[in-house]
Amino acid sequence: MITKRIDAGAASFAEEIPWLASVIRSGGLVAFPTETVYGLGGNALDREAARRIYAAKGRPSDNPLIVHVASMEDVPLYVKTIAPVQKKLMEQFWPGPLTIIFDKKEIIPDETSGGLPTVAMRCPANEATRQIIRVAGVPLAGPSANISGRPSPTTASAVLSDLDGKIQAVIDDGTCDVGLESTIVAIEDGTIVIYRPGGVTEEMLSAIGPVRIDRAILGAGDRPKAPGMKYRHYAPKAPLAIFTGNIEKVEKAILEEAKKEGRIGFFVSTETAEKLPARHPVFIWGRRDNQREFAHNLFSGLHYFDSLPVERIVGEGTNTTGLGLAIMNRLEKASGHHIVVKDA
Ligand code: TXA
Ligand code: MG
Repeated sequence: MITKRIDAGAASFAEEIPWLASVIRSGGLVAFPTETVYGLGGNALDREAARRIYAAKGRPSDNPLIVHVASMEDVPLYVKTIAPVQKKLMEQFWPGPLTIIFDKKEIIPDETSGGLPTVAMRCPANEATRQIIRVAGVPLAGPSANISGRPSPTTASAVLSDLDGKIQAVIDDGTCDVGLESTIVAIEDGTIVIYRPGGVTEEMLSAIGPVRIDRAILGAGDRPKAPGMKYRHYAPKAPLAIFTGNIEKVEKAILEEAKKEGRIGFFVSTETAEKLPARHPVFIWGRRDNQREFAHNLFSGLHYFDSLPVERIVGEGTNTTGLGLAIMNRLEKASGHHIVVKDA
């Protein structure tokens, strides 16, 4: 299969939309841009399309797919009930990086929901993607457009490096703004429970109602409520270790690593990078006081080291407030829990 790369910014994009919609309606796969990461899209109402998504990703089929809609008006077609707090969340954060779990209607096949009685719904902020969903007339099942276990793609090139030849098309709309997957929430006894931290933070959700973080995210050893959270994930090819905690001590530890033998890649803040000797490959995730920049650059940084002959990667973490919770959650997984905490 030849994968067609289609530029969402081109004047001719409108002419491509009917073809893209027909590929989706007939069970094909199209990678689509969102504000979080690129998705691997197929008709969410078609069990065969869902099976093709699992096959293209090499993903276990007990791991449910997120269903993307063009607007909150479409949600009643696919879910049994909408609680007032779910309605408020949609009104406040859609279109945007928030996925909400509902009880599903029959029309959502078990292949899409990974056998669960629930369905995860999200309305992405990308205009090209919402236009295609509207024209296709079906919702898009869309996991991140990477091979299972690999870093999520935030550019069309990263999508192609994993899925070229396995999908009909990728819609290229540049680099994803947020850079991390959506926050996933469910409502349990009236409380908003975060199953996966992301671009919509605990602090932002608190404006709607009481919020709790699923214990499994905090490393309590429980079984995670989002099935995908239990798998090894986001891993670059070289082993990764993350240093976090007291800034002076973290910086000192990283500079010690830089004195060691071997080809080491450094994934660090601007502040630390300025002190590193020039002979090492470095990817700067941003300034320490800017977690948005860190999130935005996280997956492209992990991809960057895949293209270099490094034996291992030494990374600098951040604190877990605000967006930091999502950043450190992804780094925990990408490093296989190799987090070195330097205390005050
Ligand atoms: O930002 C995003 O959410 C991106 C873009 C493409 O929209 N999508 C994404 O999908 O990250 P994926 O498949 O990589 O992650 C979906 C996560 C998995 O951890 C899955 O287990 C969880 O959502 N999930 C899906 N449906 C669920 C459900 N009904 N209950 C609990 N967790 C669910
Ligand atoms: Mg994923």
